[in-house]
Amino acid sequence: MAEKSFPAALNEQIANEFAASQQYVGMAVYYDAETLPRLAQFFYRQALEEREHAMMMVRYLLDVGEEVHIPDIKAQATSYSDGVTPVQKALEQEKTVGEEIFALFELAREVKDYRAEQFMQWFVKEQVEEVALMGDLLNVVERSKDNLLLAEDYIARETPGEEGTDPTAPPAAGAGG
Ligand SMILES: [Fe+2]
Ligand SMILES: [Fe+2]
Repeated sequence: MAEKSFPAALNEQIANEFAASQQYVGMAVYYDAETLPRLAQFFYRQALEEREHAMMMVRYLLDVGEEVHIPDIKAQATSYSDGVTPVQKALEQEKTVGEEIFALFELAREVKDYRAEQFMQWFVKEQVEEVALMGDLLNVVERSKDNLLLAEDYIARETPGEEGTDPTAPPAAGAGG
């Protein structure tokens, strides 16, 4: 018997996604204050993506007639000892979220909730992409830690994370349509 219901576990993940969004806003603010606008923009966009993940989960719970909990906001760091640390933390964070997504997927299987399992599938793929994206950025900022303008050039040239709309993505609450 599973300890937790899938909706309760998904509500916890909604809190994790909103927290990740806030954390990325904090990182963006740090880079923005350091006049590293491309790194700032990268994290502002990631923050919006995390919010979008939360809103997809909200939409799902609404669609299956379950209760939705919107969590409290916790303060997040806006200063770091150097420009590499935020990306290191972001990569750790994405790996942790990957584990959380696997746990949700497993729970859906355990309780034979097929619609939940199907819903979680997109997030499994998404985490592969997010870990790869953050890993690439970490390589770049580590290599250019003495001159982060090189990382700025890389982001301007390669536009990492700007892949446009994904037609396979689950609908988000408030996104219209
Ligand atoms: Fe996410
Ligand atoms: Fe993420």
